[in-house]
Amino acid sequence: MRPAARLQAAIEIIDRIRQGLFPPDRILAQTWRERRYAGAKDRVAIAGLVYAVLRQWGVVAALAGPGCAARRACLALLATRRLPDVPDPAAAFAGEAYGPAALSAAEAAWVAELGAEPGSPPAWAVANLPAWLEAAYRQRFGEAFALETAALNRPAPLDLRVNGLRATREAVAAELAAAGIVASPTTYAPLGLRLPGPVRLQHLPAYRQGRVEVQDEGSQVAAALVGAAAGETVVDLCAGAGGKSLAMAAAMADRGQLHCFDTDATRLAEAAGRLARAGATLARCRPLSGDHRELAALRGRCDRVLVDAPCSGTGTGRRDPLVAWRLTPAGLTDLAALQGRLLDLAAELLRPGGQLVYVTCSVLEAENEAVVGEFLEQNRHFAPRPLAGAWQRHLHGEMPGSGRTLLLTPHRHGTDGFFVAAMGRDNASSPTA
Ligand SMILES: C[S@@+](CC[C@H](N)C(=O)[O-])C[C@H]1O[C@@H](n2cnc3c(N)ncnc32)[C@H](O)[C@@H]1O
Repeated sequence: MRPAARLQAAIEIIDRIRQGLFPPDRILAQTWRERRYAGAKDRVAIAGLVYAVLRQWGVVAALAGPGCAARRACLALLATRRLPDVPDPAAAFAGEAYGPAALSAAEAAWVAELGAEPGSPPAWAVANLPAWLEAAYRQRFGEAFALETAALNRPAPLDLRVNGLRATREAVAAELAAAGIVASPTTYAPLGLRLPGPVRLQHLPAYRQGRVEVQDEGSQVAAALVGAAAGETVVDLCAGAGGKSLAMAAAMADRGQLHCFDTDATRLAEAAGRLARAGATLARCRPLSGDHRELAALRGRCDRVLVDAPCSGTGTGRRDPLVAWRLTPAGLTDLAALQGRLLDLAAELLRPGGQLVYVTCSVLEAENEAVVGEFLEQNRHFAPRPLAGAWQRHLHGEMPGSGRTLLLTPHRHGTDGFFVAAMGRDNASSPTA
């Protein structure tokens, strides 16, 4: 494909992503299925362009408004020389076959104006954040604001978790090495392997036979901190496609009960498939209905409940650069309310002395410390349980931070952004207290 055709393909993909279709890697994969004629080099170049634009959406917003179409976004970035591998706007928008339509007179004038006075984008734009979120990120990261937001906006490595039910980390690393893939052990997660770049996992026996799963190291750490052990009764209340359920099943050595719930039956079906492929027989996956009747028999009986809550996903900017742009102030308030309700629901399931673990992939205080603080305020029969002990038992190295709650970030820990807090139910309190 010629450069202009690649640019047009990228424009169409960005418009699809902007229409609410995400995450980008899924839309890209879907596009390649539809456009089988795109060769490997074209795919790499087009994906590179798509991510280059999405990672500069703050600059686009400052120059052209956050809601602009992808064509205008590309023009703005080209005019200010922010898309290095694309010819200048006049060449790229010359009206070539399969390329973008030729520049209109108004567009040409706008491009000339932007190019003459490119200016410096404001801090929120450089950070790829909508302006209203800048204060929350500054409050979170303080002096590290620029470094953390830059790290949140860079591509993530590919992390795998070795399935402890089927293999050891050393054996899988050797198996991958024999296939020419260099994998290094992750810093904190004892079963994690980090690959330097993307790999077509579907072709690897280690993946097909359930010896490895894709899981960011931060997610592996969060699952390990639940502390699920063989023989226990554990609930994963928001199990989704099962990332953390799989890790807990292995930590439990496939002994005990692991109850996986989610309101999304499709994602939960995926979890069931992955658990079967991993050889985990202890898990039971059930979609959660509005009246939560599926939970009735578990009330007051569970040793541990994980609430891996639906959240803004602001910790996952490395994979989904538009994540902060989809959030609104009202949406954030709604999320915090839902997170609080899920904690209340989870609390009812615990036996006296049992442990509630709250996880988000958000870096925002409003979804993390504020939600946990409110829960503890309203539920005096729960107390914070420092994570330092669980870290020592289940993870490598020193626990970062205070030891009470945990915030992992891309800049400091090389993971997605994750928040983890644990709370214990009083031994004395009755299940209905
Ligand atoms: C962060 S994701 C879970 C990710 C999953 N635990 C993993 O490790 O792969 C949050 C999940 O919460 C689910 N969810 C949303 N509202 C819910 C509710 N009211 N009750 C239970 N699950 C809910 C979503 O469908 C989504 O799968």
